Amino acid sequence: MKNEFSLKDKSVLITGAAGGIGEATARVCAELGASLVLADLVEPLELASELKASGTIVETYGFDVTDRMATERIIEGLDRLDAVVVNAGFCPWDDWSDDGWDDVFNRVIDVNLQGVLHLTRACLPRMCESGSGNIVLVSSVAGRMGGLKASPHYVAAKGGVNALVKWMARKAAPYGVVVNAVAPGATATGMTTGQSFNADAIPLQRLAEPREIALPISFLCSSAASYICGTTLDVNGGVFMN
Ligand SMILES: NC(=O)c1ccc[n+]([C@@H]2O[C@H](COP(=O)([O-])OP(=O)(O)OC[C@H]3O[C@@H](n4cnc5c(N)ncnc54)[C@H](O)[C@@H]3O)[C@@H](O)[C@H]2O)c1
Repeated sequence: MKNEFSLKDKSVLITGAAGGIGEATARVCAELGASLVLADLVEPLELASELKASGTIVETYGFDVTDRMATERIIEGLDRLDAVVVNAGFCPWDDWSDDGWDDVFNRVIDVNLQGVLHLTRACLPRMCESGSGNIVLVSSVAGRMGGLKASPHYVAAKGGVNALVKWMARKAAPYGVVVNAVAPGATATGMTTGQSFNADAIPLQRLAEPREIALPISFLCSSAASYICGTTLDVNGGVFMN
């Protein structure tokens, strides 16, 4: 019997794959049979060699998602592309009154919002031409309800992602390509290291483990999600219930 949740014979590109949610997603996708294209600012070679040793086909790339030309060059060079996890992001825990904050604002928007546009704009035409594909944007609960402690640049960027997913989904759906997002709550990764969160503000009373975000992302990469279109899936321990 065909397993619709399997990623066998699918090639999945993941940005921000060197750690946290991206790395966990790479591991889950590998377990589900995908071949992987792993990208980060620096090529995630260590993870790639570990996954290759257990039989996964892996390619790696190092590029900055704010670099449109680099993004397009890499996408053009790929032999195959069935699913894309647009995951790279960063979240400075600063205050909007800090010196130089406006520059940080621009960088946060560049990475978390324009980087999303660069990658999806590069991937969509070939997916639409092939008549299938799954794109998963990694947003945040911060874009839903303002976050528990995120700064406004990050909230604005992720709110933008939550709006864009609908625009992209409408554009892609007639060609058989589905675009969705996952909006995680606070998750135990490098991004939240050193930050304290009030567990009482989270109905499940704890941060998510990266794998708990990776599993729904992997589901949205699979044929099991073939009729889910333009959704932002909340994976936040109950902090925000839509
Ligand atoms: N950790 C959380 O609490 C949380 C909550 C909601 C959403 N998210 C989102 O999940 C995604 C993954 O975050 P994470 O928690 O795994 O963080 P992380 O810091 O562990 O991983 C982010 C990865 O993105 C990469 N990256 C950052 N800027 C980049 C750039 N310009 N070009 C290429 N790669 C870049 C980093 O090198 C890093 O490996 C992000 O989009 C983040 O906003 C995280």
